[in-house]
Amino acid sequence: MSRGIFVTGTDTGVGKTWVSAGIMAALQHQGLRVLGMKPVASGCAHTADGLRNEDALLLQQQGTAEIEYALINPYAFAPAIAPHLAAAQADTTIDLDVVERNYRQLAAHADVIVVEGAGGWLVPLNAQESMADLAKRLELDVILVVGLRLGCINHALLSAQAIRAHGCHLLGWIANTLDPQMPKLQTNIDAIATRIDAPLLGITPFQTTFNVESLAATLKIE
Ligand SMILES: Nc1ncnc2c1ncn2[C@@H]1O[C@H](COP(=O)(O)OP(=O)(O)OP(=O)(O)O)[C@@H](O)[C@H]1O
Ligand SMILES: [Mg+2]
Repeated sequence: MSRGIFVTGTDTGVGKTWVSAGIMAALQHQGLRVLGMKPVASGCAHTADGLRNEDALLLQQQGTAEIEYALINPYAFAPAIAPHLAAAQADTTIDLDVVERNYRQLAAHADVIVVEGAGGWLVPLNAQESMADLAKRLELDVILVVGLRLGCINHALLSAQAIRAHGCHLLGWIANTLDPQMPKLQTNIDAIATRIDAPLLGITPFQTTFNVESLAATLKIE
């Protein structure tokens, strides 16, 4: 049976996609077949093939097998706005049945599926459900990417509390270095580590250009 990992973050733009690719590579180095999924993406470009999202394309490319785009990203919206608003604007509703169907198809080709959220943990998907419900429904273990910047301690602890309150398993958290000059960087990491009650799976380095292998090398995913 395949295993699923949900990558959430303390906010949008904290490094979920880069770190997800790193997680995929780290697992692939263990000899596992790993596929990525970005079920809901707003902020997509119009291309000859249809709407395409950069995150989904990167996760597709990092996958162990060639998978058609629509399976990886069933909900693609052009405007970079909250998913439930983008869906409403496109006259559609995000349906977790569709996401689950795609996920099960991907699972047939992989040992691990890495599912990237959009924004943070409680981002709404429709009138009733949120990203948290998606992770819960697919029974995914959760990894929290903490973008190291001012405010991240509070955001990390709030997110961890909400993940647990939803009945999900927080596999661990990853400290992603968004700014190497951040004052008290290590002290911030320590402040989270002593309060979060979940293992620190790695400290991903600041990169001027994306390098999946150097991200993977810093991660311990079991
Ligand atoms: N380790 C890093 N070193 C340097 N820059 C980084 C790092 N991680 C993320 N960034 C910067 O932050 C940007 C956002 O990262 P990323 O796309 O992975 O965030 P995200 O959390 O997936 O955002 P979204 O919510 O849009 O999916 C990157 O394009 C890059 O410019
Ligand atoms: Mg992303």
